[in-house]
Amino acid sequence: MTQTWVIEEFLETKNNRLHIDGVNADDLARERGTPLFVFSENRIRHNIERLRKSASVIDCPLKLCYAAKAMSTMGILRAIKDAECDIEVNSGGELWKALKAGFTGDQIIFNGTSKEIWEIELAIENSIYAIQVDSIYELFLIEETAKRLNKRANVSMRLVPEIKTGTHSGLQTALLTSKFGMMPEEAFEAFRAHKDSPHLDLCGIHLHIGSQTPEAHAYADAFQMLFESMFRIYNETQTKLKHINLGGGFPVNYLRDALHESEFPDEQREMFAADFEPANAVDDAWKLVKSIATDVDAGHLLKDLTLLLEPGRSIIADAGVCLTTVRNAKTRPFANSEIRNPESEIAADSWLLVDAGFNNLLSMATYHWYYHLISARRAGEPHDTPYKLAGPLCDGGDVYFDHEGHDRLPEHRLLPGNVQPGEVLALLNAGAYTVAQESQSNGRFLPAVVLIHENGKVELIRRRETFDDLISVDVL
Ligand SMILES: Cc1ncc(COP(=O)(O)O)c(C=O)c1O
Repeated sequence: MTQTWVIEEFLETKNNRLHIDGVNADDLARERGTPLFVFSENRIRHNIERLRKSASVIDCPLKLCYAAKAMSTMGILRAIKDAECDIEVNSGGELWKALKAGFTGDQIIFNGTSKEIWEIELAIENSIYAIQVDSIYELFLIEETAKRLNKRANVSMRLVPEIKTGTHSGLQTALLTSKFGMMPEEAFEAFRAHKDSPHLDLCGIHLHIGSQTPEAHAYADAFQMLFESMFRIYNETQTKLKHINLGGGFPVNYLRDALHESEFPDEQREMFAADFEPANAVDDAWKLVKSIATDVDAGHLLKDLTLLLEPGRSIIADAGVCLTTVRNAKTRPFANSEIRNPESEIAADSWLLVDAGFNNLLSMATYHWYYHLISARRAGEPHDTPYKLAGPLCDGGDVYFDHEGHDRLPEHRLLPGNVQPGEVLALLNAGAYTVAQESQSNGRFLPAVVLIHENGKVELIRRRETFDDLISVDVL
């Protein structure tokens, strides 16, 4: 039986054990303790190459900037840099980390809705490729800062494209009601007002339609909007933009497992199972814009242009697996009296309490996010026994089903029969927005992270915290 989560030469079953890049996950968990995040450098590179295919469908250079907010331990940032990918940062802290990992200013773009002066200074002092401006007020701050430093800041205006997608409401970033960016009219006015500024190089425009975008055509809509804006800016100010930035948001198929797909709540399935080739979406978008440009005799605007993408999830999500151990097990009568039938074969729910919870995978609480679960120790066995799954936190929301009863997640997770405490399980596609958002809630240590290098060597890139780390910044 081939499991649908298998990815050849990356996620496989050998001798009934899950192997990640050929490394036995059960052994890894035993040697290093759990929770344990395991990342694959091979998979990161594969994902970057997949995105880079977009370069072959456009007539201008492509600049790929990894969205560091998805996962930014130093080992991962270095792996991204070694794969010759540039970087998008979202704060002065991420900017500092990117520089420390060896990225140079021209490889860095900087987003963010609430930038402080020290962050703007750091960006300008390092002559980064673009500060992506969130508002007219922020443009003023950047100009003032650049003037004080006697420098010229490269800036790109973040526009509100008003494109709604089928992603989770918390991941929508392109609506009038979203908090990001400025209205196009404001940006046009800024281009008119600042085109000759000695301290601002208004070199680009930017948008991001959101994360885990299920519809490929949203990229064509977004690109059309960017082109029309670019055309207007040129007509009004004769400014020829150096770059346009189509953002990130390419989806990851979180539901590769067919069994689960069939029992997955309908409303959520489309988003979690979204799957298309980024290069195809970019291809369609480019073709559309090229034909519009030809129609309005503005093909020259696409020359000397660079197209930026800033993907996070599609680079790092499936490259990371979270290994977790069952620490406790119990049974509970069904809550629903109709199915509390003494003749029923299953009279009670089997509960498994694991050592990874929303302190490690925050989105499972904030967005009811789904991470597919398999047994690392018995990966090759049929996963046909239902369990209620919960994390270790003292919080009723720390569960892997929809505790609010809105059916946004499956009630049960399917694993082999008779799972007992001590069994190691694996949460797949757990690389994005997980380690990056962990907390020490309930006095729990941040877990270790390992990276399996291309040569098969397993390297510890973040150690597991100790007691001292729990109080390391307390001053009293
Ligand atoms: C401005 C911006 N760019 C890029 C990204 C990365 O998105 P994703 O990880 O879905 O590719 C995000 C995250 O939502 C974002 O807000």
